[in-house]
Amino acid sequence: MLTPTEVAAGAFALMTNADSPAGVMERAWHTEPIAPLGKGARPKQLPPDTDWRVWLILAGRGFGKSRAVNEFAIDQAFTMPGSRGALVAATAGDVRDVIVEGESGIMAISPPDFMPLYEPSKRRLTWPNGSMATTYSADEPRRLRGPQHHWAICDELAAWRFPDAYDQLMLGLRLGDNPRVAISTTPRPTPIIKSLIDDKTVALVMGSTYENRENLADVWFDDIISRYEGTTLGRQELYAELLFDHPGALWTRDNIDNNRVVEFPGLRRIVVAIDPAVTAYEDSSETGIVVAGVSHDGHGYVLEDVTLRASPDGWAKAAVAAYNKYKADRIVAETNNGGDMVESTIKTVAPNVSFKKVHASRAKHTRAEPVAALYEQNRIHHVGVFGKLEDQLCQWVPGDTSPDRLDALVWAFTELMLDKEPLTVRASRY
Ligand SMILES: Nc1ncnc2c1ncn2[C@@H]1O[C@H](COP(=O)(O)OP(=O)(O)O)[C@@H](O)[C@H]1O
Ligand SMILES: [Mg+2]
Repeated sequence: MLTPTEVAAGAFALMTNADSPAGVMERAWHTEPIAPLGKGARPKQLPPDTDWRVWLILAGRGFGKSRAVNEFAIDQAFTMPGSRGALVAATAGDVRDVIVEGESGIMAISPPDFMPLYEPSKRRLTWPNGSMATTYSADEPRRLRGPQHHWAICDELAAWRFPDAYDQLMLGLRLGDNPRVAISTTPRPTPIIKSLIDDKTVALVMGSTYENRENLADVWFDDIISRYEGTTLGRQELYAELLFDHPGALWTRDNIDNNRVVEFPGLRRIVVAIDPAVTAYEDSSETGIVVAGVSHDGHGYVLEDVTLRASPDGWAKAAVAAYNKYKADRIVAETNNGGDMVESTIKTVAPNVSFKKVHASRAKHTRAEPVAALYEQNRIHHVGVFGKLEDQLCQWVPGDTSPDRLDALVWAFTELMLDKEPLTVRASRY
């Protein structure tokens, strides 16, 4: 296998060989092996024909937005030999699974004669013409401090936990004559998304899931549609509508944004709260798992949302992993639906965890209201952005069936800040 330097040297030879200048190669949007349909891009998936620095695709799930920005990355690498690009997604796993190795990732959609070399350990892609791209996780904004790029792509910007990652990326986007970034995201009214929409220089494209219907597998489509069709969140996830606060909701975006922090102080207690899914089947709802802590001065912190769709064994393992990661004091779980099954599932995975069953005897809204009141008092802080959890908080109206992430969060803060228990003092570890 060629080293990146040899690849680059070969590309250089190709460029200087008058018989096969690199620019002559034509790259079709829709290429083998991913393109059995051979239809090419829809107009909204192509870079807008205007003078832009930021191209923002706000579209429903499955619209083809990741595909569009990944194609843009290949295009930039191709038309600017030797250029430097940045590939950024919410987490390291997302960069790898969506941008690089996904079914519409760069490796899958690149034509064979312009296939990059991927070196995961260097977080780098190197193309035959000397262009290179580095992968970044928005979870680690500091890595974006310093490096400069000619072009960049961002996947699911509204799901990034630390908005600083975007600011740092933009500061370093300054190589060449026309540095540009293509962003794809399902919309969510986060501060960054709102400011991009208000910015008249941003090329904004919007679209719904249905526009890409013919390219979506029936099973996938039915699953997503059945989950969202007819719900308020579906307007966001399928039709890309920006949902602002629901008038009847107990939580508001402004309150969460204003109290958001990047770091948290020493914590007196930490719990992992679980709201188990009713059944273990694939199409059942998710199991809400939220990690939260309380500081010595009585402020609450949301540390992580590890909610997932999994079998009991799967969610028990995820909860125990979070318990160990944060050296939590306790796992609390709602046992209404599963009775003792919940406890035995946890104990099978980890016999020694401290576990407490909680039982929802009071009505849902009487449990949620005191927690919402803690937010109103500006005593609860989210450490970074938890997009899906925040969507649920700001959309749920008492009386509707309450969503899993919200339930887990309510259990966590009820246990930490509302249940009157003897105070145990713990050494701060963070
Ligand atoms: N114009 C197109 N022609 C054929 N397949 C497409 C097209 N656009 C997207 N796809 C495919 O549709 C699927 C969903 O696209 P993706 O970019 O992952 O959607 P999103 O990021 O909006 O959820 C992928 O398999 C992708 O390759
Ligand atoms: Mg995508």
